Amino acid sequence: MHSIDIDGANTPFSCAEDDTVLRAGLRAGVGFPYECNVGSCGNCKFELLDGEVDNLWGEAPGLSDKDRQKNRWLGCQSRAKTDLRIKLRTSEHYRAIHTPTVTSATLARHTALTHDISEFEFDCDTPLAFSSGQYALIQLPGVRGPRAYSMSQSGSNSLRVEFQVRRVPQGIGSEVLFGLKTGERVHIDGPYGMAYLREDAERDILLVGGGSGLAPMLSLARGALSSETLQTRQIHFLYGARQVRDLCGQDLLAQSPEWAKRGHYTAVLSNHPGGEALPEGCQTGFVHEALQALHGQALSEFEIYFAGPPLMAQAMIKLLVAHKVPMNQVHFDQFY
Ligand SMILES: Cc1cc2nc3c(=O)[nH]c(=O)nc-3n(C[C@H](O)[C@H](O)[C@H](O)COP(=O)(O)OP(=O)(O)OC[C@H]3O[C@@H](n4cnc5c(N)ncnc54)[C@H](O)[C@@H]3O)c2cc1C
Ligand code: FES
Repeated sequence: MHSIDIDGANTPFSCAEDDTVLRAGLRAGVGFPYECNVGSCGNCKFELLDGEVDNLWGEAPGLSDKDRQKNRWLGCQSRAKTDLRIKLRTSEHYRAIHTPTVTSATLARHTALTHDISEFEFDCDTPLAFSSGQYALIQLPGVRGPRAYSMSQSGSNSLRVEFQVRRVPQGIGSEVLFGLKTGERVHIDGPYGMAYLREDAERDILLVGGGSGLAPMLSLARGALSSETLQTRQIHFLYGARQVRDLCGQDLLAQSPEWAKRGHYTAVLSNHPGGEALPEGCQTGFVHEALQALHGQALSEFEIYFAGPPLMAQAMIKLLVAHKVPMNQVHFDQFY
């Protein structure tokens, strides 16, 4: 166990030998900035003032050569070798709403949803408490570094957790996950993420998922459908996929009787072959373009959540900024 002192904070926190600087901070209630938890976004950078760290992933894209020259490190990829003194600007926004914990878990069920997206249900040894829209880190056997996957059920404190994962061609982690047999074990660390359901928001809800961004949007929709405070809210769900064979989610949402009263589902296909008939309720183009056409001038009236690949997330941010949507009602995760 090592002690980590944030310059000027005077409240050192403890970091276990096998933990990362970021996650130890979050477990200790520190508002340590982060987003992806997997070395890609660079939000968790800190400057090392004193002590020594191990870098878990030397080539992580979240750190530039200039950062390395300035003795900056990624909190999610650093392990303390000694007591540390670090410099970073903390923020209440990042303080964990549920303390992240690590549990072992057993694969209970693997169900194909589309040709390349499957649902994986794990039974944890200890319950995982999380809010709708959050994600966890799964450490898969034989894979270097954990992978981030969003829970797809509504927020709970549950032994059973569900994920929906896209099989990425040549993806090291997703290939191992798709090859797991029921009964095999993984480690799950969570919850993480700030794009969780705001139950006190007084606006209708807009959920936009692209590709593997389906899971957190389903979790949020399910959470909103069962929330007592959101009972009068309409829920608009846009799902961006490539082709008809990628379509997913509508049948899962329809399992809730509430959905028929308050839910609105639009699928948007970016690679639909011209000349082929479109299924009912489907549009073509990119999901942010469909959003602009459907809700354009009214975007500021929604509490907005989205998840998907960085290109989609950037297009969404550009659209929302152009429509002057206040950023405190926008919540998202980029799936690096
Ligand atoms: C917040 C968040 C939530 C996500 N939720 C989902 C979801 O619900 N469903 C889904 O299908 N996908 C989700 N993803 C994407 C998912 O985490 C993986 O990136 C994707 O499955 C590809 O992983 P791979 O191992 O198959 O591919 P690879 O190309 O082998 O690995 C890519 C990912 O692994 C990380 N990585 C690679 N090497 C290392 C290393 N040595 N050490 C540490 N990390 C490494 C990268 O940062 C990147 O995230 C999410 C991503 C993020 C950031
Ligand atoms: S949180 Fe560490 S790089 Fe994204």
